[in-house]
Amino acid sequence: MTEENKMEKVVSLAKRRGFIFQGSEIYGGLGGTYSYGPLGVELKNNIKQLWWKYFIQERQDIVGIDGPIMLNPKLWEASGQVDKFGGGGLGDAMVDCKECKKRFRADHLIEEETGQDLEGQIEEMDKELQKGDIQCPNCNKVNWAKVRHQNAMFKTKMNGVEKEVYLRPETAGAIFADYKNVVDSTNVKIPFGIGQIGKAFRNEIVTGKNIFRLREFEQMEIEYFINPNKDDWNKVFDDLMEYIGGFAKILGLDWNTFNLREIPEDKRALYSKRTVDIEFPFPFGVKELWACAYRTDHDLSHHIESSGIDLRYFDQVSGERFIPHVVEPTFGVDRTVNAVMVSAYTEEKVGEDTRVVLKFPKKLAPVKVAFLPLSKKEELSKPTKELFKKMSNKFNCQYDETQSIGKRYRRQDEIGTPYCVTFDFDSLDDKFVTVRDRDTMEQERIKIEELESYLIEKLKN
Ligand code: GAP
Repeated sequence: MTEENKMEKVVSLAKRRGFIFQGSEIYGGLGGTYSYGPLGVELKNNIKQLWWKYFIQERQDIVGIDGPIMLNPKLWEASGQVDKFGGGGLGDAMVDCKECKKRFRADHLIEEETGQDLEGQIEEMDKELQKGDIQCPNCNKVNWAKVRHQNAMFKTKMNGVEKEVYLRPETAGAIFADYKNVVDSTNVKIPFGIGQIGKAFRNEIVTGKNIFRLREFEQMEIEYFINPNKDDWNKVFDDLMEYIGGFAKILGLDWNTFNLREIPEDKRALYSKRTVDIEFPFPFGVKELWACAYRTDHDLSHHIESSGIDLRYFDQVSGERFIPHVVEPTFGVDRTVNAVMVSAYTEEKVGEDTRVVLKFPKKLAPVKVAFLPLSKKEELSKPTKELFKKMSNKFNCQYDETQSIGKRYRRQDEIGTPYCVTFDFDSLDDKFVTVRDRDTMEQERIKIEELESYLIEKLKN
């Protein structure tokens, strides 16, 4: 299996088995939008829950919020995001082919053709394209318009608001907007973080075939507030990076295969003094999965200036009043789903057959246990359904009675179900069921009355 066809196989499995569908497919799709199917939504929810537990609930120094997608437009102006994402200087650079009218990301086009990385250097990109050496990949002509910034924030109108309202391009905005409310309503003490999971929207120039670059996506972000006069931001940054490595492990991703890319100053976002892109070896290349940035006091300072509200932190012990600085770990949910699926995808030879298994860590598996009567006959299906009903209270289970038991095992392997429980004719008499392990394919006879505690123990890790 090559890396390229691995991706094709994962994409095909994701569609066939109800993990991920193209958005609005019956109308030809809508670029950069995807739907999560019945299994995909379980997988995505499991990732979000594990993140929430690990970063918010298991740490005393981080609390969570759920802020709005639409925020007062002044917030985006103050933080510089109207410029960053709205076309005032730092958004993605686009260029139109004047012949076929197709639009491209100028820096990507140049990098593919010449190997030069000119991201952020609009004039240099323009010069390179006007040399006339780079053809349009769509029509092969050379007739480029001027390189411009793309307005990447989606705008809408809201009753009673004069200006246009934006859909948030990052979840971080709501955290800064609520920073004071959190400080005033809880007992958090600096250093502390506020985390959030939610949708973000960017009108990306080019999206692509899978859930990597989307226009509607989800983020899990933390703004970690520190005292710049006391806390060493480099240490906070490094500690958070190490903690992020622990999250990779929970997801079954090998931290040693990640590439931690220090982003040079001229390529960093306007707010950042240090950014590390946390890159993952996707089958289509080593690409940014998550990131960590030192946002300094950029956001809070601008919000103080623009809102007129004093957002300085008051340290009751030292009597010091200061504007906190921020270190921000950020995680794309959809890219994480993508990484988890490609990393779990396995093909194994079993005799003449190939067995496809999604070897998810058990906590991530969309379905934990499948209940399979050996035959559809009511004498077996009825008690199996009863078992299914009882266990569904504890784990996400499936009941399946169609086709041969072998085919049903394969179907469960393909969606990553850790355990299959088979009720056969012997079960009627001896009150034992067969439990099959996804990874070893080993089977064990377990007493029905001990099944629940057996599965709880097995699914613990
Ligand atoms: N608050 C900082 C921030 O938004 P970012 O690097 O632009 O930083 C953070 O985005 C994460 O969000 C990325 O590491 C990636 O996982 C995800 N992300 C960004 N743009 C995306 C897109 N167009 N489609 C899917 N995920 C995206």
